[in-house]
Amino acid sequence: MNRDIVCIGAGYIGGPTMAVIAKMNPDRKVIVVDINQGRIDAWNSDDYELPIYEPGLVDVVKEVRGKNLFFSTDVEGAVKACDIIFVGVNTPTKMFGRGAGRASDLQYWESTARGIKGYANGDKIVVEKSTLPVRTAAAMEAILNDHAEHRFTVLSNPEFLAEGTAINDLVSPDRVLIGGPQDEVGIAAIQEIVDIYATWVPREKILTTNVWSAELTKLAANAFLAQRVSSINAIAGLCEATGADVEEVARVMGADHRIGSLFLKAGPGFGGSCFKKDVLNLVYLCESFGLHTAAEYWDGVVKMNEHQQERIVSRLIKEMFNTLANKKIAVFGFAFKADTGDTRETPSGVVTRHLDEEHAHVVITDPKALPNARKDLADITGKSSRIEFEEDPYKAAEGADAVLLMTDWKIYPSLDWQRIHNSMRKPALVFDTRNCLNREALIKIGFKVLNVGK
Ligand SMILES: NC(=O)c1ccc[n+]([C@@H]2O[C@H](COP(=O)([O-])OP(=O)(O)OC[C@H]3O[C@@H](n4cnc5c(N)ncnc54)[C@H](O)[C@@H]3O)[C@@H](O)[C@H]2O)c1
Repeated sequence: MNRDIVCIGAGYIGGPTMAVIAKMNPDRKVIVVDINQGRIDAWNSDDYELPIYEPGLVDVVKEVRGKNLFFSTDVEGAVKACDIIFVGVNTPTKMFGRGAGRASDLQYWESTARGIKGYANGDKIVVEKSTLPVRTAAAMEAILNDHAEHRFTVLSNPEFLAEGTAINDLVSPDRVLIGGPQDEVGIAAIQEIVDIYATWVPREKILTTNVWSAELTKLAANAFLAQRVSSINAIAGLCEATGADVEEVARVMGADHRIGSLFLKAGPGFGGSCFKKDVLNLVYLCESFGLHTAAEYWDGVVKMNEHQQERIVSRLIKEMFNTLANKKIAVFGFAFKADTGDTRETPSGVVTRHLDEEHAHVVITDPKALPNARKDLADITGKSSRIEFEEDPYKAAEGADAVLLMTDWKIYPSLDWQRIHNSMRKPALVFDTRNCLNREALIKIGFKVLNVGK
């Protein structure tokens, strides 16, 4: 068995993860492959215009690309060349047939597994990096090892990085999880993967489990994080109704070490490609095993998230004299969180669609996410000329009736808000859904200010 690594899937997970693995394992060759030629071209671009924005990523890629990190569309060649195969392809929510809207769509994973089987020229370790339903590894092992010439051992190594802090999370992880069969072959395969991470992660932070525990842990961890967001947002609505302040409530709650202070920030709700998909996947798993009350419980986390975005729009309509028609609203931020250009499941997208339905004139500004915003909204911008995109936040706010801040980009609090106020139609409203602006200063300037949970 050789030490070289291939990762199938050059997305938000495959790219950054393999860049860091290559940097920390200079004696191993790491090849990242994808069927998307455009993505691979971007990873290989001379000017380092990488397909995803992630702070610190360019520096790592500059250090290792062409030395021991390579990007290619030659899946067959890479599978033949490497005995350790990570799979980080997308596993979106299934949109058809049984489990539509909840279950994981495993077609990309299965076609990848069949490709691996067809190309393999020896025994391989196949490592699930994608987030998958529990027992997927067993299904994949069955496909791979059925009438196979070679032996495939399937492990689960779910990724816990968060977009926006991916490089830091990879370099200093809270833990690395590797699950695998608890027999002699499985334990040896787990050790091969432990060795990759042990070059920089302290050994006590590399946790090994059986394969099903590893698969379930990833879903459960995301469900718990999403649940905290929905829980604090449920409290935020009550704060608005009663005069309590959600930031004060969260600060005091978080001081209790049993609760902890992280992930207690009220806002527009969670977005990103993972939380909703993974919670719904958990809902589907619970239902499949007849655990209907547990399924309803987790489903509530997603429902609460959707409710939060509807509530934001309803409040805005109410504060703008019950009509948004032909009013100009500058949406500050389209990425689902700061420091990423990723707009998958972004609350900003949901809210923009509601605003469009209300016939508002929406101008979207974002430092990194405008290319994705244009693609995401292509279905409605084609028909409607009411949605615009503008890189400069000052220009976006010119003549606007309201600024709706949706993403807490660091630049927004430091903008010249007096200048923005001067250029807006009066009365000028700011709805800060991230509670990141200086509320008192805005009120002093003359803005009407709305916050979440206040
Ligand atoms: N994005 C995150 O923050 C994050 C965090 C943890 C886990 N995950 C999980 O990682 C997985 C990948 O997520 P992502 O955000 O990187 O997705 P992504 O869509 O950015 O990347 C997936 C890539 O896989 C490629 N692909 C699909 N089928 C292929 C095939 N047969 N052969 C070669 N390439 C193929 C696609 O072209 C795409 O470039 C998902 O299961 C996700 O749940 C994501």
